[in-house]
Amino acid sequence: MPRSLPRRAAGAFASALLAATTLTALAHSATAADGTLGSAAAAKGRYFGTAVAANHLGESAYSGTLDREFNAVTPENEMKWDATESTRNTFTFGAADQIVSHAQGKGMKVRGHTLVWHSQLPSWVSGLGAGDLRTAMNNHITQVMQHYKGKIYAWDVVNEAFQDGSSGARRSSPFQDKLGNGFIEEAFRTARSVDPDAKLCYNDYNTDGVNAKSNAVYDMVKDFKARGVPIDCVGFQSHFNSASPVPSDYQANLQRFADLGVDVQITELDIEGSGTAQANNYANVVKACLAVTRCTGLTVWGITDKYSWRSSGTPLLFDSNYAQKPAYAAVLTTLGGTGGGDGGGGNGGDPAAACTIAYARTSDWNDGYNGEVTVTAGAAPITGWTVTLTFPSGQKVSALWNGSPTWNGDVATVRSTYNGNLAAGASTSFGFTVMKNGSSTAPTLGTCTAS
Ligand code: G3I
Repeated sequence: MPRSLPRRAAGAFASALLAATTLTALAHSATAADGTLGSAAAAKGRYFGTAVAANHLGESAYSGTLDREFNAVTPENEMKWDATESTRNTFTFGAADQIVSHAQGKGMKVRGHTLVWHSQLPSWVSGLGAGDLRTAMNNHITQVMQHYKGKIYAWDVVNEAFQDGSSGARRSSPFQDKLGNGFIEEAFRTARSVDPDAKLCYNDYNTDGVNAKSNAVYDMVKDFKARGVPIDCVGFQSHFNSASPVPSDYQANLQRFADLGVDVQITELDIEGSGTAQANNYANVVKACLAVTRCTGLTVWGITDKYSWRSSGTPLLFDSNYAQKPAYAAVLTTLGGTGGGDGGGGNGGDPAAACTIAYARTSDWNDGYNGEVTVTAGAAPITGWTVTLTFPSGQKVSALWNGSPTWNGDVATVRSTYNGNLAAGASTSFGFTVMKNGSSTAPTLGTCTAS
């Protein structure tokens, strides 16, 4: 159903509304859109983090989105064993240090990922005999944790140590096969002795609902708590797609772990899909975390679909142009945030783009708001522009000026009218009035294309 009113009705409504808006604008001071994932989560006593890859930090749209939206980071690969100790006892921290100092400069938390894992493990480790392997494991934990002592909020001390399926058994790995079940406990005890202030987590996937694998992890955590083995948190990776959807008992599962006396964290969230379905799934995950007091934060496994490990499944909150997706709006709304954080505009503020867009809420009242999109030409003049905007479900656009919209469901494609000719670097804007119908979230900016 088109979201705009029929033209005549819209015209009449717009004039009436204009008068009303002028009045209400006096009563409600203009508010720029100010909600971001990090600030909305912080208002709920939680962090909202993302996995970060050091080699993208130099890309302005990447670090701009990171700095604007997130208040926690997890190095995606840079702290793993193959990155930090590819040769025995020679430690390389350059790439991870880059991420940690970026995060510290912005006051973001850092999750350390990960100390003991069967994957991304250098071959020299797998070749060791039991005694030597134990020494190497404890040395690795000690050196890496000492290097980052005081800078890490939580460490994934052991990652993915259990098998998938119904066995509830430990996964075969050099650690398991040579040291037996006790390697996990030993890793946690060593970790506590090195940095007593860091939270120590066990982290895994396919443990998001109640199942044989999560039952096995649950039993281990229960045993650790009973025997005083130091463990503070359990990470639920939460990689979802149609074959592995968000489980209906997700919240109940988080809660049962929390009830053991550990924090729980969503550590690698991504959900393949698009549009409303993806948005709803994301909202459900956020709701579950908010409903569990000891769920201390969520981390998505990447900023933009462009660099996701599952890029073709478009599982993240920002598309490959860094535009906010409906899933972003859903997460922000569920966190209780208002407005849209996309002050940087569509195309990620990419200076190489033919045109870029920036959004601002120019006035706001009980059941409506006015938004304005500024279109700026890139390094070359343009003769016309087209911008896409996706409005949150339920909102109705009652008037739109200085642009010509066509509608497809919630998506408006707005084309220039008299204002298509822009010199290099010059700007114009179009505006609109939105009836909130219960949702105050800003529209998601798509890309700007020029002709
Ligand atoms: O950096 C090299 C590059 O030099 C080389 O040319 C290229 C060729 O394949 O590989 C690059 O390394 C890749 C690395 O990501 C960095 O992009 C590796 O091949 C690739 O295997 C590695 O994948 C990572 C994966 O863990 C490895 O298991 C993903 O980025 C990372 O997102 C993923 O993260 C894991 C978590 O740590 C644990 N939970 C599951 C999650 C998803 O698999």
